[in-house]
Amino acid sequence: MGILDKHGPIERSATLLMVLSLIVVSIGGLVEIVPLFYLQNTIEDVEGMRVYTPLELSGRDIYIREGCYVCHSQMIRPLRDEVERYGNYSLAAESQYDHPFQWGSKRTGPDLARVGGRYSDAWHVDHLVDPRSVVPESIMPSYAFLAKRKLDIEFIEDRIRADQMVGVPYSQEMYDNAAVDLEAQLDPYSDGIDGLFERYGENVAARNFDGQPELTEMDALIAYLQVLGTMVDFSTFTPDDSR
Ligand code: HEC
Repeated sequence: MGILDKHGPIERSATLLMVLSLIVVSIGGLVEIVPLFYLQNTIEDVEGMRVYTPLELSGRDIYIREGCYVCHSQMIRPLRDEVERYGNYSLAAESQYDHPFQWGSKRTGPDLARVGGRYSDAWHVDHLVDPRSVVPESIMPSYAFLAKRKLDIEFIEDRIRADQMVGVPYSQEMYDNAAVDLEAQLDPYSDGIDGLFERYGENVAARNFDGQPELTEMDALIAYLQVLGTMVDFSTFTPDDSR
């Protein structure tokens, strides 16, 4: 009795119930959203995060073009089963340079947020050419054609410019050297390699990713897959709880 009696009129009037529900939901929304406008920065800066190299960025564009996100997410939720399977939960900072982000909403295949370094380049080539050759029960489609398609780098500077326009901190030097840096990443003994390391850091993985002499879309896609989740060093990372 008591409080339940008072609730009666509200439950009997659909309009009143709707109006009051809206008020309650709005308060909840305000409490969650308003503080974000007063924080200096809603994304915590995390050591190790850098912009994608031109080759990784090209690979990312192929990932999007081929619709890999339709079956793969890139967002490890802070739940025990996910963390045990995939590794540390995803940080906001890890997708701060992603336009658009690739969190995804469907996992037909596993989450790829930390797939970088989990397999060798050769495994990725085999897997992309014929998924069943390495995972017999796989239902993933074959992407063998990527190994035969030359990577189109004609517009790589424009691609970098586009990211600059939405706030990704590519420098003028990165823009000017985009094509040189892209090719340098495929050959650790090339002349351009020092410039690439200087601009993007010594941790950049530079090698021939698909094992063929040509610069292919397969090279770019594997360079991208191999960097996923590897920028932040979770053996030393401690969350900033000061705010
Ligand atoms: C129709 C759904 C589907 C699409 C589209 C798809 N995948 Fe997959 N993928 C899967 C499934 C299912 C698995 C698990 C079985 C396997 O390893 O092949 C998988 C596994 C993987 C793995 C291994 C992950 C791990 O941790 O073992 C990688 C890497 C991968 N996919 C990359 C890609 C890329 C890159 C693309 C786009 C070019 C892509 N996938 C498109 C379904 C898909």
